[in-house]
Amino acid sequence: MIKVAVLGYGTVGSGVVQVIQDNAALISKRVGDDIEVKYILDLREFPGDKNEDKVVHDINVILDDPEVSIVCETMGGVNPAFQFSKDALAKGKSVCTSNKELVENHGPELIALAKQNNCNYLFEASVGGGIPIIRPMNSSLAPEEIVRIMGILNGTTNFILTKMAKEGAAYADVLKQAQELGYAERNPEADVEGHDAGRKIAILSSLMTGKTVKFADVHTEGITKIETIDFEYAAKMGKSIKLIAMAEQKDGKLTALVAPFMIGADHPLNGVNGVFNAIYVTGNMLGDVMFYGQGAGKLATASAVVSDVIECARNLDRTLPVVWDDEKLDVEDYTASERCFFVRAAIGSRSQVLNTFGSINEIRVTDEEFAFVTNKMSEQAFNKLIASVDKVISTIRVAE
Ligand code: HSE
Repeated sequence: MIKVAVLGYGTVGSGVVQVIQDNAALISKRVGDDIEVKYILDLREFPGDKNEDKVVHDINVILDDPEVSIVCETMGGVNPAFQFSKDALAKGKSVCTSNKELVENHGPELIALAKQNNCNYLFEASVGGGIPIIRPMNSSLAPEEIVRIMGILNGTTNFILTKMAKEGAAYADVLKQAQELGYAERNPEADVEGHDAGRKIAILSSLMTGKTVKFADVHTEGITKIETIDFEYAAKMGKSIKLIAMAEQKDGKLTALVAPFMIGADHPLNGVNGVFNAIYVTGNMLGDVMFYGQGAGKLATASAVVSDVIECARNLDRTLPVVWDDEKLDVEDYTASERCFFVRAAIGSRSQVLNTFGSINEIRVTDEEFAFVTNKMSEQAFNKLIASVDKVISTIRVAE
């Protein structure tokens, strides 16, 4: 019997307990041993809950119990989750987490600590919720040099953009609906400004390069400036607008950014709608592969945590390789990347645009303004050109 403790009995933590208990028989078969939740750590009591007798309030009960070999950290936030995780690993207890903030801030230290203590620090649920991506990066994609990752890594913003596109609704109205449905937080900044996706692409970039890519070095732009009319233009071009987290690696140099992109009709990310996430990975040998599914939600995220629990249970007293050193990677200036740009400008600046960009394929959905897509060029070159046009309304990057 393998005994597990769950830290935090909130949405994900209670989901982890449910997955372990409801699927106990098949998990037991697949592990070759039974897995049982022995403790649940939470500040609160849960009277009437079928697991109320497992609730403890002192982490030391768990740390001091030699029977507990795996700890699921589903508390969120850096403190006290960081200290609890370090203490568990120091005692040789494997830790499985959904906590992207902790992984992004302290991943390499916790991975190294697990190695020193013959156990594991696994974090499948920290990126893409229920979508398998961390384990594939560590195993199935291990032969590959990953040259590019393009991800729709935030369900809230994808829900908002999908609704705006399908219903012609304004950003503020759809955000309100998303909050009422419980998708968006009351303070939605982390999602709508691209910070949540930024942390996730920082984790994936670290696994891609084996070094530490900090979220602070990922350029992030959110979706708050996207307007209903942008979707009219996008529809005319057969494109969709998505918040894309992108990391590209060339000659050992990495660029990373989160920003809205126009995505062509043929691109596999074009049809990823609603709260769904997808991660489109390009390897130098494999070519393109895409992972798609529920990027958030109680049972989907819990299932990813339990997949780590199973991996730990199959590998007790053995550390699985995770290549992520604490050496910080200097991220390259994202403006060196080349791409096309969608531009909206007031009708009065048409001749300036023609002088600056040469002939363009004009796109019109209204009399007051026009739009076009540039040729492929670096962002640096684009920024210089666009600075000479007086009445630019907005620009959106276009993905290949
Ligand atoms: N707020 C996140 C999202 C939840 O909307 O995708 C998962 O990190």
